[in-house]
Amino acid sequence: MKTEILLYPKQKQFIDSTEKADEVLYGGAAGGGKSYGQLCDALIYAVNYPKSRQLILRRTLPELEKSLIRVSLGLFPKEIYKYSESRHTGEFVNGSIIDFGYCDSETDVYRYQSAEYDVIRFDELTHFTEQMYLYLMSRLRGTSDFPRAMKSSTNPGGIGHSWVKGRFIDIGEPGKIHEIKGCKRLFIPATVFENKALMRNDPDYVKRLKNLSEKDRRQLLDGDWDTNEGQYFSEWRRELHVCEPFVIPKDWRRYFAMDYGLDMLAGYWIAVDPFENAYVYREIYQSGLIISEAAKAILELQGNDVPEIYIAPPDMWNRRQDTGKSVAELFLDFGIPLFKASNDRVQGWYCLKEWLHPRTDEFGEKKPKLRIFANCTEVIRTLPSLVFDSRNPNDVGDRVHEYTHAADALRYWASARPMFSKAAEEEDEFENEMENFLIYGI
Ligand SMILES: Nc1ncnc2c1ncn2[C@@H]1O[C@H](COP(=O)(O)OP(=O)(O)OP(=O)(O)O)[C@@H](O)[C@H]1O
Ligand SMILES: [Mg+2]
Repeated sequence: MKTEILLYPKQKQFIDSTEKADEVLYGGAAGGGKSYGQLCDALIYAVNYPKSRQLILRRTLPELEKSLIRVSLGLFPKEIYKYSESRHTGEFVNGSIIDFGYCDSETDVYRYQSAEYDVIRFDELTHFTEQMYLYLMSRLRGTSDFPRAMKSSTNPGGIGHSWVKGRFIDIGEPGKIHEIKGCKRLFIPATVFENKALMRNDPDYVKRLKNLSEKDRRQLLDGDWDTNEGQYFSEWRRELHVCEPFVIPKDWRRYFAMDYGLDMLAGYWIAVDPFENAYVYREIYQSGLIISEAAKAILELQGNDVPEIYIAPPDMWNRRQDTGKSVAELFLDFGIPLFKASNDRVQGWYCLKEWLHPRTDEFGEKKPKLRIFANCTEVIRTLPSLVFDSRNPNDVGDRVHEYTHAADALRYWASARPMFSKAAEEEDEFENEMENFLIYGI
């Protein structure tokens, strides 16, 4: 018997990843072929590894029956596969099995308490909680030498959006394997345009997605993970604001801006090119550092790449009761002279929004004035997650305090360094610096 399945490149990449990564997410636009890719992968695995055991899950039984079970019955060759409706289990002639499961409630996962699987698959992973995912991950075990993996597919959005984003998208460049705590994770982004059959047979599908609300359209058509309800930096687009790292030319002006506390040191090195485009090119994001350790870490990381100005928030000039010295004075003692930024929050956010706003550049291309190197992962993770403050619609809310550190540092930089100031700088650089001093009260 010979069955031919035609696969799109991303589906093939998903299938090929079982032996390379421990956890894989195939995620993004609706209709890209993610669920179909899961089922083809499950079929190929079952055939290649006789007596293998797989579990494939949707959140609810009706979803499972209407999607995965129905499609698998059409896709899996009847000569080698038999499905038992009462047990929700499919069996192959070579002894491999696929269990079709669901998890209506948190406690449903305990139904799998004594089970063992070689591959566990979640379809629509963002419908599940992290606790469910982690519990089921413990069921991944066996005595055979088959490759074991957690393989998931999903759209952005849904109750699990944040944890799934944190686990797979925020870890670094898509399409590459990232090792985290000894575990290899891979994110494969899906786009609807890859699904040639769908594009050909239903050309109006994309038109219908375009008619969705802004948030739904970005999630389901663009496969965008960075949009959320009440997003403050709604101008954020990963493809516009994140760029590949490059060597910063020697003559570009360099700045360092930070938000410091024991809970987090978030520091950013920012370079500005001759056209007033700024690049966030290095990041330090570490908790639990006392001042001497923070200063040492900053100086070590930058080496000879010394910025012109180190920018920090004004509360660092408050005197401490124990030493009588301010945090700023202590940083100076450890070799870092600080420049006091304004802490007018709303003004600062407006400045930062100006920098992030895409505008037509000198070559006619639409680009923001501020871009971020792809290796500055914490700011890329947290900045798009910020939402409006429910009490002050001009401000950023700090419902999740951890999300604000990186943005605060960039805000201090943006408010201390007005945009398009090059002409003025060239006119009288010294006077301009003095003006900053007067405005910010040093
Ligand atoms: N390689 C393929 N060959 C033929 N048809 C395919 C292929 N991949 C996907 N399809 C078909 O395209 C349609 C959309 O695919 P699928 O349901 O897998 O997309 P999805 O990414 O899971 O979408 P959603 O995000 O809505 O769940 C389905 O009808 C599916 O059968
Ligand atoms: Mg699907």
